[in-house]
Amino acid sequence: MKNIIITGAGTGLGRSLAIQYGKKGDHVFLVGRRIEPLETVKEEIAICGGSATAIACDITNTKDIQNSLHSFLETDRIDLLINNAGTGCFGPLDTYSDDEIEQVLATNIKGTINMTRAILPLLVEQGEGQLMNVISTAGLRGKKNESVYVASKFAVRGFTESLIKELEGTAIQVTAVYMGGMDTPFWDETDHIKDRSRLKSPDTVAELIVDQNAGQAEIFIDR
Ligand SMILES: NC(=O)c1ccc[n+]([C@@H]2O[C@H](COP(=O)([O-])OP(=O)(O)OC[C@H]3O[C@@H](n4cnc5c(N)ncnc54)[C@H](OP(=O)(O)O)[C@@H]3O)[C@@H](O)[C@H]2O)c1
Repeated sequence: MKNIIITGAGTGLGRSLAIQYGKKGDHVFLVGRRIEPLETVKEEIAICGGSATAIACDITNTKDIQNSLHSFLETDRIDLLINNAGTGCFGPLDTYSDDEIEQVLATNIKGTINMTRAILPLLVEQGEGQLMNVISTAGLRGKKNESVYVASKFAVRGFTESLIKELEGTAIQVTAVYMGGMDTPFWDETDHIKDRSRLKSPDTVAELIVDQNAGQAEIFIDR
């Protein structure tokens, strides 16, 4: 049994990954701002015979991370951190508000960095573990009407590739995951995707990630 932290675990891909790992018998720490969806996922995992802990935490806030993760970080070993939580804004650049830009950069970039800084020392102390960052094909190339989201995912890719180099020669593995569109609540507030029925289901993508994860530097679900 592994102990796995998944951010953004209440919905979409994070939820699907949590259920996959829960079914395998791993204990999953479910992180997100809203406790209700996390509690629902915890129940879904319990129905499958697995176990989970729901932790309400805003990953953009380092104090919140310290306060909410503190109690179990002192007692539990962590095998895998999946930085999955993310958000986007879509449309031409001049249509974004300052708040939207701030939220995308704070969640996708700083949230990933904040969680990694909170957990990496534990992995170093243990002498092993894995960091997995959910990026997107938006971390591979520019896309029309996705400039700020793409910028945030290029940043996460750069962060991930740098950590791979920094941790080379240790037993801490760092993995970047790239996928195209998934039909999740991510798209609820925008009409950027016209036909969501053509997107992959997050369950399918989660299954592929769990199957393919052997601690390698990159997992490409799509390119
Ligand atoms: N959907 C796609 O087409 C697609 C494609 C490629 C990559 N991705 C990436 O896949 C990841 C998961 O996205 P998804 O599609 O599953 O979207 P989603 O259903 O909207 O999930 C995002 C999750 O992140 C959580 N979250 C957002 N801000 C947070 C914060 N500050 N602190 C903690 N949790 C936060 C949300 O929960 P709360 O609101 O409760 O905090 C939500 O559960 C993201 O990194 C996204 O960029 C998505």
